[in-house]
Formats: sequence, C-alpha cells, structure tokens
Amino acid sequence: MRIIAIANHKGGVGKTATAHTLGVALSKHFEHRVLLVDIDPQASLSGSCGIMDTAEKSIAEVLGGAVPGTLSIHDAIRKLDTNLSLLPADIALAVTELGLVSRMNRDSVLKKQLAEVSSLFDVILIDCPPSLGMLTINALTAADGVLLPTQPQSVDLRGMQLFLDTLDQVRSELNPAIETIGVLPTFYDGRLIHHQDALHAMQGAGLPVFPVQIGRTVRIAEAAHEGESVLTFAPENPQAQAYLKLAEEVSRWLENGQV
Ligand SMILES: Nc1ncnc2c1ncn2[C@@H]1O[C@H](COP(=O)(O)OP(=O)(O)O)[C@@H](O)[C@H]1O
Ligand SMILES: [Mg+2]
Repeated sequence: MRIIAIANHKGGVGKTATAHTLGVALSKHFEHRVLLVDIDPQASLSGSCGIMDTAEKSIAEVLGGAVPGTLSIHDAIRKLDTNLSLLPADIALAVTELGLVSRMNRDSVLKKQLAEVSSLFDVILIDCPPSLGMLTINALTAADGVLLPTQPQSVDLRGMQLFLDTLDQVRSELNPAIETIGVLPTFYDGRLIHHQDALHAMQGAGLPVFPVQIGRTVRIAEAAHEGESVLTFAPENPQAQAYLKLAEEVSRWLENGQV
C-alpha cells in the first residue's frame, strides 16, 4: 500500500478534482483498491463524492484534536464503489487542526490511523487543504509521495517554491522517504504564451513535471455538483482522458516507484 498526498497550499489549483478523478481512474481502470481521504475542513472532496453530511462520522472524530479521537477509522470509511472508498471530512476538522498543536506526536496522528487500514487498500489519496498547517504536515508525514497540482502562471510558480521548501523541511525532519511524484499543470491552455512559458520554466528548473496537462473544462465543476467525477460524468471529455493518462503515470509509480 502506498500513500499519495495531493497538495499545494494555494487554493483553486485543482487538488480536489485531481484527488477525486485520479481515485476513480485508478480504481475503475487500473483495478487498484483506492481510499480517498479528505483532510480539508471545507470538505469539498466529500461533497464532490456526494457526501454532504457525515453525521459525526468523519475523519475529525477519528483523529481527535488535543486528545485522541474516539471513532474507529473503520467506522468512518464509506464504500463508494467496488474498489473505491472515502474517509470523509467536515468542518469539525478545523477544531482538530487547532487541537493537534498541543498533541503528543502531533505530526504523525494521521499516519498512525492510516496504518490501521493499510491491508485493505493498494493506494490512499489524501486531498490536502489549501494551507501549510498541521493537517497538511500530517499528510506529508504519512505519504510515500506527493503530487503537486499547479496553475501554469508565474505567480503560482513562486508559491510552489515555498511549498517545495516546506517539503524539504518535512523530508529532513519528519519523513526522509517522501518522493515528489510530479508537478501537474492544471487549467492549462497550450494556446497561451504565458502558460507555455511557465511550463518550460518548470521543466527548465528540473522539476519532475508530468508529461500530461489538465486543461480547463466546465464539466469538472458540473460533475462535482452531481456528486461525480468527470470520468464518470463525461468520460469522452478530453480532460477526463487527460486524467486517465495521469492515472497511467501514477500507476507506473505505484508499481515500480518511477513515472
Ligand atoms: N480542469 C479544470 N477546469 C475547470 N474547472 C476546474 C478544473 N479543475 C477544477 N475545477 C473547478 O475549479 C474549482 C477549484 O478546483 P478544486 O479542485 O476544488 O481546487 P483546490 O482543491 O485546489 O482548491 C472547483 O469549482 C472545480 O470544480
Ligand atoms: Mg480542495
């Protein structure tokens, strides 16, 4: 079992859409047993999977806050499809994040919980919140690899450097083995010179940029509104196909540690 954190402290770069669509692709087309983990208090991933109310059975009650949680992780996980499950979040997770600060082993609370279900899944995808707080640090501590969606614009590239610096810090102090699986250009429009330039800048800086870009499509938001991923909602859409190509790359990493 391998754990992938989908992270970038910038909001609106397609982290949640990527976690959801990649999860559906890996489970449906590559037959991996996938667990999606929502650790954003805004619970967008849970919502886009059709879970609007967790009835106090969310990751917040599993992790706890200043004191350990009382709910078993097994009781919070919901099956969405044959090979796809979700550990949902809700707004209570905001209190969790504040409480974790005073908790013993505060960086590895999530890692310890996910270890409980490691035999049940082949891959766990963690959808991180748009911050570099305790929840994101917990995800990066638990993860074997990180996937970094980013918009191809110079302002986003500057922000990405801050994220990569944080990742270096996590690597040296908490999780030496974490790999950067790849940077995923999102909302990409190949007709725009500034997008092309940003893509070349990332590649030129030696970053591991995926050989696939996700373009803009309204179908992704429409799918989320219907509690679906674009891959089931509009399978022929070019961006659904781009996510399938991404799943192929990630599947290769899962199998032999390389993309
Ligand atoms: N490739 C895309 N094209 C158009 N809209 C997208 C795309 N990816 C995501 N979106 C939409 O943009 C918004 C932000 O995406 P989201 O995945 O929630 O980003 P993040 O999790 O990084 O904040 C959402 O409304 C989502 O449905
Ligand atoms: Mg999100």
